[in-house]
Amino acid sequence: MTYDASTRQVRVRAPGKVNLSLAVGALAPDGYHPLATVFQAVSLYEDLTARPSDTFELTVAGPFAEGVPTDETNLALRAARLLAGHVGIEEGVRLHLNKGVPVAGGMAGGSADAAAALLACDALWQTALSREALAELAAQLGSDVPFALLGHTAIGTGRGHLLTPAMTRGEYHWVFALRAKGLATPAVYRTFDRLSGSTAEAEPQADLELMQALRAGDPAALGAVLRNDLEPAAIELAPELTETLAVAHDAGALGAIVSGSGPTVAALARGAKHALVIAAGLTAAGVADEVLCAVGPVAGARVLQTVRLGGDFEPGPLSPVDRA
Ligand code: C5P
Repeated sequence: MTYDASTRQVRVRAPGKVNLSLAVGALAPDGYHPLATVFQAVSLYEDLTARPSDTFELTVAGPFAEGVPTDETNLALRAARLLAGHVGIEEGVRLHLNKGVPVAGGMAGGSADAAAALLACDALWQTALSREALAELAAQLGSDVPFALLGHTAIGTGRGHLLTPAMTRGEYHWVFALRAKGLATPAVYRTFDRLSGSTAEAEPQADLELMQALRAGDPAALGAVLRNDLEPAAIELAPELTETLAVAHDAGALGAIVSGSGPTVAALARGAKHALVIAAGLTAAGVADEVLCAVGPVAGARVLQTVRLGGDFEPGPLSPVDRA
């Protein structure tokens, strides 16, 4: 199948995430752990442009470009190939990624790349897949990819790929303490298995208190109930995280946890100014290689711009979330 190549470029933005709660069950026979998690999308972004090409190519720039593979293992390229195969497109795509989410940091940067690539190629090739069809492809690429498409706040079950959007109020201010040396997600889960022995629950449950805090828009109540079952495993693999967490607490954070599989530490602030105070505390203590402030929740992957033949610039079509 060929497509109408009048679309010359599509620009898409997808967010990173933090898990406000991550309850992890016992390893299942399929090699995954059942989860009950609450995702919040935050304002650290992956920006991706897609242009027509005969082959599949990727270039990477931006603050976290270093160490991103550009071969066929890259999740954005895999997403583009998966969609092409699914709809029968025979051409390729030229992708350019501006990476604003840390690599191997527990913030689902690679998943955001995959979500962005699915959406960008869907628009470039005018495949007009439904939200459900895109989410299904997303789940094949990784457990966190469907959430990067959906954004905002959602409860994730299954591998984390089955999503229920959650009602929340207000804006939450985060400080992220990054470490240059990332953690591999499978290694963190293996360490979780070793540490939890047979004590992990078969069916973890979402935290009702946490959902209540989100509905009330109460950052102090949220800070008190942040939870991550992978935190002890991440600390076992990167013991320096104990100090990062302690400094965040000492700097007055409402709560501080390891984000996802780590090693990023997420500290919740009372507001924008308080976030700067916490960021300064973390920087001064030398317990992070880089410190970033961000807010959540934010939208999932969305088309920012579509450029058609003749140089016409149009506002992007609605994201699959808005379209639904
Ligand atoms: O789904 P994704 O490819 O992101 O998962 C990466 C790895 O993380 C899996 O291979 C598995 O080892 C681990 N994982 C898990 N349970 C989950 C999600 C991921 O054990 N729910």
